[in-house]
Amino acid sequence: MAAGKGTRMKSAAPKVLHRLAGRSLLQHVLDAAAALRVGTDQASANRTVVITGHGADAVEAACAGSGACFARQMPQLGTGHAVQQAVPLLLDANPTTLILNGDVPLIRTTTAAALVAACGGTRLALLTIDLADATGYGRILREGDAVHAIVEHKDASAAQRSIGEVYTGMMAAPTALLKRWVMALGNDNAQREYYLTDIVAMAVADGVPVVASPAPQETEVLGVNSPVQLADLERRYQLQQAHALMEAGVRLADPARLDVRGTLHCGSDVEIDINAVFDGTVTLGDGVRIGANCVIRDAQIGAGAVIHPFTHIEGAVVGSAALVGPFARLRPGAELGAEVHIGNFVEVKNSTLARGAKANHLSYLGDATVGERVNYGAGSITANYDGANKHRTVIGNDVHVGSNCVLVAPVTLGDGATIGGGSTIAKDAPAGQLTVARARQATLPGWQRPKKAAKAGSTAD
Ligand code: UD1
Ligand code: MG
Repeated sequence: MAAGKGTRMKSAAPKVLHRLAGRSLLQHVLDAAAALRVGTDQASANRTVVITGHGADAVEAACAGSGACFARQMPQLGTGHAVQQAVPLLLDANPTTLILNGDVPLIRTTTAAALVAACGGTRLALLTIDLADATGYGRILREGDAVHAIVEHKDASAAQRSIGEVYTGMMAAPTALLKRWVMALGNDNAQREYYLTDIVAMAVADGVPVVASPAPQETEVLGVNSPVQLADLERRYQLQQAHALMEAGVRLADPARLDVRGTLHCGSDVEIDINAVFDGTVTLGDGVRIGANCVIRDAQIGAGAVIHPFTHIEGAVVGSAALVGPFARLRPGAELGAEVHIGNFVEVKNSTLARGAKANHLSYLGDATVGERVNYGAGSITANYDGANKHRTVIGNDVHVGSNCVLVAPVTLGDGATIGGGSTIAKDAPAGQLTVARARQATLPGWQRPKKAAKAGSTAD
């Protein structure tokens, strides 16, 4: 169910498209559902239906690649009405229908699987939880041990409101029965809504067993209704990831100051200082150290490499024992070999640097192939763009590029070449020789610095 408005988000975007750890709330739910299908006999026959309404176009576009189909609910007349819209899309071949909420993102696949198992195609299984403050939730009503109904908070008596066992909004139901029940719902209640929860009493009347399946932890069933709740769930999720990493041996300076917005794979003896942000898929080899305040997206960092503070890496490969930063930027296509050094305020884009090459200060390497042991001087840049096209710079092994050089691509510096500081190199430089391309230094004997003419009456003498 993803049709609700989310008024309290106070946002133009539909609530279920707000992001948690880099993925939309709805995407988290879809991913949990997709993982549930893996390995089941009926994987190919199973179907995911997303019920959209508020911001339907945007929501459907956002999950177009998920393989889900869509049922539109306009207007939104309650959760029972929402499921009514999906009825034509529910396959009788699937014995169990699992209902999840698009704004409850941290439901785990194992919990959803347990709910499906509790249903088993024959029972109505409700995911429940005990809350100290159950205000707003539907309460589980029991007779003896047996569940016999859910009463919504707004319809509940004072005695019913004192019940702490609540319905989380997630259930698994026998498909054929669910279809029949939801089509028979009325809206004679405090909110004039079609309550999905009214099917519990219908199941009881039909002699279908109703089972309450308790959620293993509160975080899995918390919904997002406001920016405060979104941030709270983000921190809970990040703390879970931090703990999982530490249990695998990663040393975090502070588990509360780590953000993984994607997947982080770590070898052994990895150390991560505070405020690191990992995005997309990042792999850190054995013994990697990440300094404070680094942002690393879609990257592979080789064993023993050290990323110093305030470094930004995206779409790059860093070789083993390389040193990067502080304040370095590796852009897509940067591939650093083993033992490469990239220092402060150095930008590398779409360039390969072979083993032991160094660019330690204030420089740019774009569209370059850099050989082994090259020393690339402070302030040097590749002029790789002529205003229309990008061109390559090829720098051989053991080249020494002095400070403040401009390498106008396409250009090749032969193995062992030395480029004098301040040179603008627009033609290939031969191997093993010194090439200098700058105005010759001259001193003009007897030259006098101009003086200001004295203004009349402005001085004492
Ligand atoms: C619902 C349950 C309540 C439960 C609570 C848990 C009903 C009647 N009540 O209450 O027992 O304790 O969840 O959070 O089901 N939605 C639609 N279309 C609609 C209405 C809602 O798609 O017309 C979607 C919402 O976007 C949301 C979900 O259904 O993802 C739940 O809706 P919400 O309004 O939060 O339900 P509650 O009334 O809080
Ligand atoms: Mg709600």
